[in-house]
Amino acid sequence: MGLEDLDTIPRVSLANLPTPLEQYTIRGFDVLIKRDDLTGCVTSGNKIRKMEFIAADAREQKAKTLVTFGAVQSNHARAVAAAAAQLGFRSELFLWNDSGTPSGGNFFLDRLFGAQVHVLSRAEYDAIYREMATNGEEGKYFIPEGGANAFGVLAYSLAVDEMKEQLLKMHRNVDVLVTAAGTGGTAAGLLLGAKLFDVRAQVAVVNVLHPRPDILHRVRVLLEQASAKFGLSVRVDWERDLLILDGYSREGYTNIAPMKAKFIIEMAQEFGLVFDPVYTGKAFYGLTREMRRGGLLEGARPLFVHTGGIFGLFAKQEEFEKAVK
Ligand SMILES: Cc1ncc(COP(=O)(O)O)c(C=O)c1O
Repeated sequence: MGLEDLDTIPRVSLANLPTPLEQYTIRGFDVLIKRDDLTGCVTSGNKIRKMEFIAADAREQKAKTLVTFGAVQSNHARAVAAAAAQLGFRSELFLWNDSGTPSGGNFFLDRLFGAQVHVLSRAEYDAIYREMATNGEEGKYFIPEGGANAFGVLAYSLAVDEMKEQLLKMHRNVDVLVTAAGTGGTAAGLLLGAKLFDVRAQVAVVNVLHPRPDILHRVRVLLEQASAKFGLSVRVDWERDLLILDGYSREGYTNIAPMKAKFIIEMAQEFGLVFDPVYTGKAFYGLTREMRRGGLLEGARPLFVHTGGIFGLFAKQEEFEKAVK
């Protein structure tokens, strides 16, 4: 498949595109921010780009229900529920929860959109995930955690084309695309897109969920899956092209350290930018640290891809109140 054929892959319209590319000076550094937190309102964030292709495929397969998996405050699960409601599918969500009674944030929105929600222990969740991923169920369209499949990767590769056009108009160059990595699908898409559209930038990710070797492996597998599915051929130098900014999620995936909660508050108050507690807050914090002298991004011209996640904040009010005391 050539680049021009990518336009023929079925896609539904969900996201407000192009999202803005904005210039900020933060902590003394210039940074461009790709505002994918503005892909929509409740259908916002990186998952909505992915859903444009995933939902189109579900339609082609004549599915009635979109089924997906994630943590109880999963932005992806909420995006699936919202997109399903908008497009006339039913949605079924399997969510793992390791503490307390779930409420608020994305979990509230899931139910507002009428999703059938199952809250499970991690062990139950893992068993059902394996079963659904392998065998599926008639009429149900299985979407992996984080929308991490070839369609999700494709969506983010096309986002790079969008950014390239914006950079040209702004007469700007960047050295590195920085983002948060959960499943690694967004990162794989950015890397694929950089190669396909000849944007000579590295991709740097803050790994919030998986340790460094795992995320390297996942990004690689996802990129290869997408390349194979769409017949795309790219050459990646895995030593050079993908950088892992490690160690910014030591408090654990679903937690936020008080110092980072404070950082999120400062960004909101100084710039009107809202980062989420699980992904973008940690990633943008990591970026600002790594831009300093001796950091992995010292001297680089970064473009941060803001992947959304605002509703996760509503489930963390207590932590934020404690952080400012
Ligand atoms: C707000 C937000 N940012 C970043 C990510 C990470 O994206 P990916 O799973 O494609 O690595 C996710 C979901 O996983 C997310 O919800």
